[in-house]
Amino acid sequence: MKAIVQREFGAADVLVLEETERPSPGPGQVLVRVGAAGVHTLDTVIRQGQAPPTMPPHHLPMTPGREVAGTVAEVGPDVPETWAGKRVVVHVGFLNGGYAEYTVAPAASLHALPEGVAFAEAVAAIGTGRTAQLVLNAAPPGPQDTVIVTGASGGLGNQLAYLSLAAGAKVVALYGGEAKRAAVTAVRGRDGAVPLTVDTSAEDWVEKMRAELEGGATIVYDGVGGPVARACLESLTRGGKHVVVGWASGGPVEATTAELIDRALTFTGVLGAPIRELRVLETHALEAVARGEVKPLVHPFPLAEAAAAHTAIEGRASRGKVVLVP
Ligand SMILES: NC(=O)c1ccc[n+]([C@@H]2O[C@H](COP(=O)([O-])OP(=O)(O)OC[C@H]3O[C@@H](n4cnc5c(N)ncnc54)[C@H](OP(=O)(O)O)[C@@H]3O)[C@@H](O)[C@H]2O)c1
Repeated sequence: MKAIVQREFGAADVLVLEETERPSPGPGQVLVRVGAAGVHTLDTVIRQGQAPPTMPPHHLPMTPGREVAGTVAEVGPDVPETWAGKRVVVHVGFLNGGYAEYTVAPAASLHALPEGVAFAEAVAAIGTGRTAQLVLNAAPPGPQDTVIVTGASGGLGNQLAYLSLAAGAKVVALYGGEAKRAAVTAVRGRDGAVPLTVDTSAEDWVEKMRAELEGGATIVYDGVGGPVARACLESLTRGGKHVVVGWASGGPVEATTAELIDRALTFTGVLGAPIRELRVLETHALEAVARGEVKPLVHPFPLAEAAAAHTAIEGRASRGKVVLVP
């Protein structure tokens, strides 16, 4: 089979397509014929050999890829035959191996794919979608809310914009530059509701955002950090909530306890869920896609172009969830 093999840590060009042996599922595992494999920001960090110390070490050579959707091609010794031939999606976690035509996955982690959900959409839900659910739980939006979503052109921000609109909130979706505009304006909520959009590359973007907010935001979902997030935090109404899920711009938003107390703000970080909670989050993410509340924007690359997919994420050139298609 064909698979991306990484023999050293380094720049994106360490990701090379090779002919490799098809793996066999062991006890408790299935073999998945990959229909789509998710590419995650964390994959780019692992590739460089800079995985967080909370992760087990990565041994080379390795095939990256933790988010997989496809068809069960073979079941392991003690796995029910009923899985054979099923369309599934799975987060294989520390096993990796998703950037390939076939990969093994733990049977206990499989989700049968709801009818009508494409492989690429399922892959967007299983990792990034479950994070979006975690963010929502930290500050659930409702019809009374005005929500700012930073990085709304990205994989996570795109889904948070959908989910906030589906909850009936007014949404101000931020994006950086004309080339990213369509990724954000395509988002739809119930009854065709659309987000208000603001281009953070414009000099007067903060004034434009404040004009759209009409009185301030009640929630900020923030995966960008830095000055963009700082302007959002300053736009929160008294009692508002700022949820940090990352800092794609290079550093987290700065805030002081004095200003949080002064304005009765809630400041929360969600940088991962306990393993026992992941399955519920994954289920909710897949249900949101199956119900049509979230139509994840997908940026597909052929499997052979895994290096280009990583370069796009690192160069701020991707839109929505980046996915490899074998
Ligand atoms: N996806 C997940 O499951 C997950 C899990 C945990 C944490 N996170 C964190 O959440 C954040 C977003 O993740 P993602 O998966 O959506 O990544 P992504 O698809 O690469 O999107 C990141 C977005 O951030 C924006 N951005 C990047 N650099 C920026 C800058 N200098 N200034 C302003 N905006 C910038 C970009 O939008 P524009 O270019 O349009 O501004 C881009 O669309 C990251 O910090 C990530 O580490 C993600």
